[in-house]
Amino acid sequence: MSSNIEGKVVVITGASSGLGEASARHLSAQGATVVLGARRIERIAALAKELQGNGGKALAVETDVTQREQVQKLVDAAVQDYGRIDVMLNNAGLMPQSLLENLKVDDWDRMIDVNIKGVLYGIAAALPHMKKQKAGHIINVSSVAGHKVGPGGAVYSATKHAVLALSEGLRQEVKAYNIRTTVISPGAVATELPNTVTDPAVLDRIQQLYKEVAIPADSFARAAAYAISQPEDVDINEILFRPTQQVY
Ligand SMILES: NC(=O)c1ccc[n+]([C@@H]2O[C@H](COP(=O)([O-])OP(=O)(O)OC[C@H]3O[C@@H](n4cnc5c(N)ncnc54)[C@H](OP(=O)(O)O)[C@@H]3O)[C@@H](O)[C@H]2O)c1
Repeated sequence: MSSNIEGKVVVITGASSGLGEASARHLSAQGATVVLGARRIERIAALAKELQGNGGKALAVETDVTQREQVQKLVDAAVQDYGRIDVMLNNAGLMPQSLLENLKVDDWDRMIDVNIKGVLYGIAAALPHMKKQKAGHIINVSSVAGHKVGPGGAVYSATKHAVLALSEGLRQEVKAYNIRTTVISPGAVATELPNTVTDPAVLDRIQQLYKEVAIPADSFARAAAYAISQPEDVDINEILFRPTQQVY
């Protein structure tokens, strides 16, 4: 067990699958207390039970990150049950990529609501507690798409560029409170994420990419654990990683 993860209270949004679920397992195995948020309560409840069965501390709270009060409830539950929040992992996201000309405006709205506003609501919920504690760590999830734009990816990339910008602004503003900030930008990682794509014009390309190069979700969990496990005076601000085989 790593001493700088053990005992920390980590709130994870989007903990019902993919990167969030893998992070919950990995951090719990390292002795963290994990507070799991997602809409699919049955999945996070089962995960919490499993982690408790392995001797860990875990709590599941049904959370839709597009609803500000639900994100607040998730964070407040962590503080109420465990006394503090050490890490806020703003991970929930979706990627219904499409060509702009196909006018999937509802998908644009959903990406903006979950990928940007969901992250902001996570920051809003965690920040007051962390300011009071004079300690804490906010980890946001961007993407390689937060650094690059390709056809079909305009809106998704825009949301992930926004996460980078928010993270950098946050980093500069929370020095006085001893709060650390990290933004992690993964490449193709095998999760349920490609299932959110509905536009046939981009679906084939994405499925092919994931089939050829995607790496397991614990790659992300290890990156998050690396940032969390650093001594408190070390702030890992950005991590960008790809599968070794990924070119784009
Ligand atoms: N996999 C990749 O290749 C990759 C690469 C770069 C970045 N990312 C980013 O990584 C993050 C996690 O994605 P993933 O790859 O792990 O995909 P995933 O397996 O589809 O997981 C997405 C998670 O987000 C949650 N979520 C979606 N909408 C939500 C909402 N309104 N409220 C609360 N939770 C919501 C889902 O939970 P419920 O449906 O149960 O609510 C699920 O737990 C996303 O931000 C994604 O953009 C992934």
